[in-house]
Amino acid sequence: MHCVRKVTDDLWWVGADDRRTALFENIHPIPEGVSYNSYLLLDEKTVLFDCVDWSAAPRLVENVEYLLNGRGLDYIVLHHLEPDHGAGLWAVLQKWPEAKLVSSLAAQRFLDQFGFAPVKGECIVAKEGERLSFGRHAVTFYAAPMVHWPDVMVSYEETDKVLFTADAFGTFGALNGRLFNDETDFEHTRLAGARRYYTNIVGKYGPQVQALLAKARGLDIRMLCPLHGPVWRSDLDWFMGKYDLWSRYEPEEKGALVVYGSMYGGTELAAEALCAALTERGVETALYDVSSTHVSRLIAESFRYSHIVLASVTYNMDFYPPVRDYLEDMKALGLRGRIFALLENGTWAPNSGKLMGEFVTGELGGTLLEAKVTMKSTLKADQAGELEALADAVAVSVKGT
Ligand code: FEO
Repeated sequence: MHCVRKVTDDLWWVGADDRRTALFENIHPIPEGVSYNSYLLLDEKTVLFDCVDWSAAPRLVENVEYLLNGRGLDYIVLHHLEPDHGAGLWAVLQKWPEAKLVSSLAAQRFLDQFGFAPVKGECIVAKEGERLSFGRHAVTFYAAPMVHWPDVMVSYEETDKVLFTADAFGTFGALNGRLFNDETDFEHTRLAGARRYYTNIVGKYGPQVQALLAKARGLDIRMLCPLHGPVWRSDLDWFMGKYDLWSRYEPEEKGALVVYGSMYGGTELAAEALCAALTERGVETALYDVSSTHVSRLIAESFRYSHIVLASVTYNMDFYPPVRDYLEDMKALGLRGRIFALLENGTWAPNSGKLMGEFVTGELGGTLLEAKVTMKSTLKADQAGELEALADAVAVSVKGT
């Protein structure tokens, strides 16, 4: 049975949801699933824009076959060939071997490397600014390298003013039948999935996303068709504004993310007490245990907030290994410009604060607040003033940014 949605008069969503894969890229948990979006244009020529993961290929083929209703498939446009999109190409080409394949040069090289394309038809290399007409509709191609692989390109369909955006503007989470952004309360139910998708998958490539946004500003765009998550047909400026902030590494919210690494509960309790003190001062906070929170969630929250408080035990005279993993991931993704505060613990030789301070100022280019709390095993009642002072310093900084 087919499962398709109409996008415009001549364009259909023909992709698939995936609720079975546990880890996207075998790293990031996706308990709410993910969609692989493909789009079929029925014009004088028939055009499939992008493919799907191998696991979803039978559904893609069934959807396309249903809509073609006996017609052939003239073109396959691949904006991005990473296997969550490119692997399904093999199945499509088994069914429609004469389809012309349109992609970037890098994509054609990678297709060979992965062995996805037993191509018998013509291969067309799309270059920057080139236009391809299919009848009533034509697309113009724009390179978007490293958003999120070197092969990525986007295309602009001028009749309905649709931008096919590849991985850009994607969101984690299965569609569950709701294709369009305005069919859900996106801000309250899906924005976290969009942020976690962007920050972990594309987050390292902020300058390249800025270059794509600059190209997009020159186009009259009415609809964004990404490879994952909802199609955007309203509030485009709002969502593109999020991308602008994220790709400039600017926080979305003034507030304090508090991440703690605690072995026996002492550091955890201190972090919780700090959150209470910050809340009393009117500061928005979010508290996470580094040991039980996937680092992809911590990264998303780190992009979101202006301030990050790190609370860590001392472990082998270093800071806690899961805290190091988190900070190393932040460094790898290029997140910068955050303001940090520290809370350290050590039963006999607290050393985590010194080392975390060196990391966040040296490796992450962050700003470190002077106030710091040091505890030995647990925070004592006579240290309440130190915690209040730390909360004061963070609150003043948050309100001053
Ligand atoms: Fe959804 Fe970079 O692949």
